[in-house]
Amino acid sequence: DMGGHDTYMHKEIHEQADAVDRVLRGRIDDRFSTVHLGGLNLDAREARQIRRVKILGCGTSYHAGLIGAQMIEELARIPADAEPASEFRYRNAVVDPDTLYIAVSQSGETYDVLAAVQELKRKGARVLGVVNVVGSAIAREADGGIYVHAGPEVCVVSTKCFTNTTVAFALLALHLGRTRDLSVRDGKRIIEGLRKLPGQIASVMEQEAEIEKLAQQYAEARSMLFIGRVRGYPVAREASLKLKEVSYIHAEAYPASELKHGPLALIEPALPTVAIVPDDDLLEKNRAAMEEIKARSGKILAVAHQHEEKADQTIVVPKNEDELDPILMGIPLQLLAYHTALALGRDIDKPRNLAKSVTVE
Ligand code: F6R
Repeated sequence: DMGGHDTYMHKEIHEQADAVDRVLRGRIDDRFSTVHLGGLNLDAREARQIRRVKILGCGTSYHAGLIGAQMIEELARIPADAEPASEFRYRNAVVDPDTLYIAVSQSGETYDVLAAVQELKRKGARVLGVVNVVGSAIAREADGGIYVHAGPEVCVVSTKCFTNTTVAFALLALHLGRTRDLSVRDGKRIIEGLRKLPGQIASVMEQEAEIEKLAQQYAEARSMLFIGRVRGYPVAREASLKLKEVSYIHAEAYPASELKHGPLALIEPALPTVAIVPDDDLLEKNRAAMEEIKARSGKILAVAHQHEEKADQTIVVPKNEDELDPILMGIPLQLLAYHTALALGRDIDKPRNLAKSVTVE
């Protein structure tokens, strides 16, 4: 049942305010400015002993993991990174007992992720799952974890599960932070930010008509470049994946800081750039990157917290706490990918060559 939408992708994009409400529900503890995650199976002493966090997932879930790793570093000050599970399982990685491993999967059935979890457990590691489908293989195999409660996702291309997974990571980062050195004051600040998300998502949805107009222009592009820096970079990567999956337009994501080390050579009027430009301590650096592109006659669409002079067009998203900004900044680009694919007449819910869950090697 598509509930009045023409595709599941459209329906699922529009379900995100409610979905985020669900992942937050019953978990916030205002008294101690933290969150309770019932299924984690990790007591405070164990949480304090973690020396590193390694997040494993594939595709969109890997990108959610990149955002999660940054949140964990920022809020809990634990070194964290994400890696495609499909790579990790083949490289005979060093498995370290003081590292917390986290497997991320919407379906909970992705074979590369499951195999990585099994290999880790065989070597005695502690593995948590961040999963949408309750009772799925990865959820059962993990030592504990967080359900992201996005509800069923039917479209092959992931949207609401991505967003809810990033929120689940914010909850985990806050929880780990508050068992370590995150102050009550910062805990409160993050909780207030989390509570704002559903309303802010709803306000992004109100811009759909304008985003649709932009998409009609971008549908003519043969290739697009997505750039971001630190918090914006995983957002750029996910937006690039979404566009290519659903519209079949070639897209590439690059850290804005790496432009001058190669990709500037590509810039010309026919290669549009989407720049993720949060209003944080790197704003001026990102503006300088846009300047470099403009100087070479590149067209720029900015996703930012205010109108950006250097860009040809700006999609303005509501500002949240700096650490939580990545959660919202990708959402208008889901709509951009959707409307670009629609303009091109693509099979939106079932892109060619893709399957919803990849249960083979
Ligand atoms: C992208 C997409 C895929 C999946 C990937 C992992 O829109 O849907 O990249 O994210 O195959 O799937 P899960 O999260 O089910 O493990």
